[in-house]
Amino acid sequence: MIKVLNDIFVLEGKNIQYAFGPYKGLLRHIYFGNKVDERDFQHFDIEDISSNDSAYDIAWEEYTPWGGLRYKEPAVKVRFSDGTRDLVLEYYGFLIEEDILRIRFRDKFYPIEIFLNYKMYEEYDILARWVEFKNLGKEDIFIEKAYSCELNLEGTGYYITNVLGYWAGEGRRFKEKLEGGKLILESRKGNTGHNNNPYFILDIGADEDRGEVYFGTLEYSGNFKILVEATPYYSTRVLMGFNDFDFEYRLKPSEGLIVPKAYLGYTDKGYSDMSKRLHSFARDIILPGDLKNSLRPVLFNSWEATLFDVKCHEQIELARKAKDIGCELFVVDDGWFGERNSDAVGLGDWEVNKEKFPKGLEELIDEVNRLGMEFGLWIEPEMVNPNSKLYKEHPEWVYRFNNRELTTARNQLVLNLTLKEVKDYLFNVLDGLLTNYNIKYIKWDMNRPFSEAGALNLDIKEQKMIWFLHSRAVFEIVERLRNKHKGIEIEACASGGGRVDFGILNYFDEFWASDNTDALDRLLIQESVGYIYPAKAMRCWVTDCPNFISGRTIPIEFRFHVAMMGALGIGGNLNKWSKEEFDLAKKKIKQYKEIRHIVQHGELFRIKSITKDEIHALQYVYKGESVLFAFKAHQRFGRKSYKVKLKGLKDNKIYEVKYDDKIIRKGGAYLKNLGIDIILDGDFSSQLIIIKEV
Ligand code: GLA
Repeated sequence: MIKVLNDIFVLEGKNIQYAFGPYKGLLRHIYFGNKVDERDFQHFDIEDISSNDSAYDIAWEEYTPWGGLRYKEPAVKVRFSDGTRDLVLEYYGFLIEEDILRIRFRDKFYPIEIFLNYKMYEEYDILARWVEFKNLGKEDIFIEKAYSCELNLEGTGYYITNVLGYWAGEGRRFKEKLEGGKLILESRKGNTGHNNNPYFILDIGADEDRGEVYFGTLEYSGNFKILVEATPYYSTRVLMGFNDFDFEYRLKPSEGLIVPKAYLGYTDKGYSDMSKRLHSFARDIILPGDLKNSLRPVLFNSWEATLFDVKCHEQIELARKAKDIGCELFVVDDGWFGERNSDAVGLGDWEVNKEKFPKGLEELIDEVNRLGMEFGLWIEPEMVNPNSKLYKEHPEWVYRFNNRELTTARNQLVLNLTLKEVKDYLFNVLDGLLTNYNIKYIKWDMNRPFSEAGALNLDIKEQKMIWFLHSRAVFEIVERLRNKHKGIEIEACASGGGRVDFGILNYFDEFWASDNTDALDRLLIQESVGYIYPAKAMRCWVTDCPNFISGRTIPIEFRFHVAMMGALGIGGNLNKWSKEEFDLAKKKIKQYKEIRHIVQHGELFRIKSITKDEIHALQYVYKGESVLFAFKAHQRFGRKSYKVKLKGLKDNKIYEVKYDDKIIRKGGAYLKNLGIDIILDGDFSSQLIIIKEV
């Protein structure tokens, strides 16, 4: 709900409130937190501390322009064509369009118009903020910096959480207390990357169930930047949006620019409540429409089983076995096209390899369909191997600088998606595959960051726009495909978890969280991803041991339980599985189908974490049903029994708890306060416990 009280704007969710308004020439932030009586809101006068500490730097501005006596990180910085580089914004009133509050600004002299947009998703207690720029004049305007939002919080010393990840190490979380100075989370790689993730969590001593948490995510999948600044003036500022590194947007006369949306939240009930709000918001609002309400199928993916050595008859054998254990979707990963026998060749040549599929891809797809499964295919559209037909025909289709050699990574180069012919080519390739074959699922990969990021087709003044234009082009292609091929499922992958963000989730149905499928590492990676992203969107596979990354062997039941905490997939070589492994897989996939609505659509509670505790336990609750997963990695001191206090249950309801081949009936209050005793006996022991309201 939007309320306007004497130039104080109040946006209200179910529990939260956000207040700000124009006062003495500045748009001032007033409040973000739990609801208070909005009639009590007021502005305060702020004075300069000295000639060095101006009121501009002390004031909590909603969107700080660079100019005048401002030295804090600005939210926006522009350059006009005559060389003037500061922005003097004047408040031009507001509009309410449907449920969006639009605050209008113009520069005092130059013809630029800026809208700050706010939309409260009441039911989810999530505030969307984004900014629009418009050039009203006859000369170019250059935007050198444009964040999506700015947030001002009382005091310093907030704990900031994010990841310090890398390929196969995506989940490494860190928490840092910021008493002073600036902390930057960012990507400069062209995609979101593995190193930091475009979200922030700020708290002062919160835990899973208690404490104040401010959080935000960005609906963008390119170079992002989150800057947290603990100011000398007893406040903390958070800015989130485009990375300003190598960024400059040329706004031509009468053109506009809409920056990506930032989603902000606040809770005083700890990290669980934060995750709950983000998960339900992502599921209901962010994810693409077609499959929003359906559950993700159990898939088989051939990558770890056959790598590049794809052979039709072997894939058919795998498909029959995948069907036998209960898979619903069969995905052929890399290696089905061109001369693709290694990662050194073939990317870009998206026609079916005739040696591998002598009777065409149809032979496999027909069999997969006959078995009653859907078919899916891997593709890496944005890339090309220099050793490919495509590159030989179009060496000019990659990003490059003049007089510089091209740097390959994984033997590949990045296609220049600012070229219309490249975008059309990729759309036609994908459209052709989806039209000619019965393909219901695409795994869209991206296995290297950008280098020599020049687009020779663009004007010299537009070179620094490529980061944004590339990201937008990917979304445009996906949108065109979705409009034409209703109901297809698309997974985003970038060498594992390099494309995990709300921007991706707005166009793709799910993401591959990591190439690291070691079940123990996965506990941490999935836990970390789960703070922000819903289980439904996180693909998790059971693969073979010894695991190719860790060299570790973990019992298959443990591996299943870990992968069952997301959208389950099987990635092992079924042609080598023993009868015992098959039997267990059948049982577990059947069980997963019975509980997947709880995992995929339920509320997540992190009860124990092996980062701190001897065991790891996560619980999912959906209406009156719940499932608890508990894990122990290492047996210590002969201990077998562990008490786990359940969460998310209703105090006065009776629940049936099924575990250790027994069933107990207890009240919700009992289960929450006294908990259940579970047995975890031995290294890599695990339990799956089902709880139902009776
Ligand atoms: C990347 C992906 C893997 C797999 C390979 C194929 O590494 O993350 O899942 O698809 O590419 O080359």
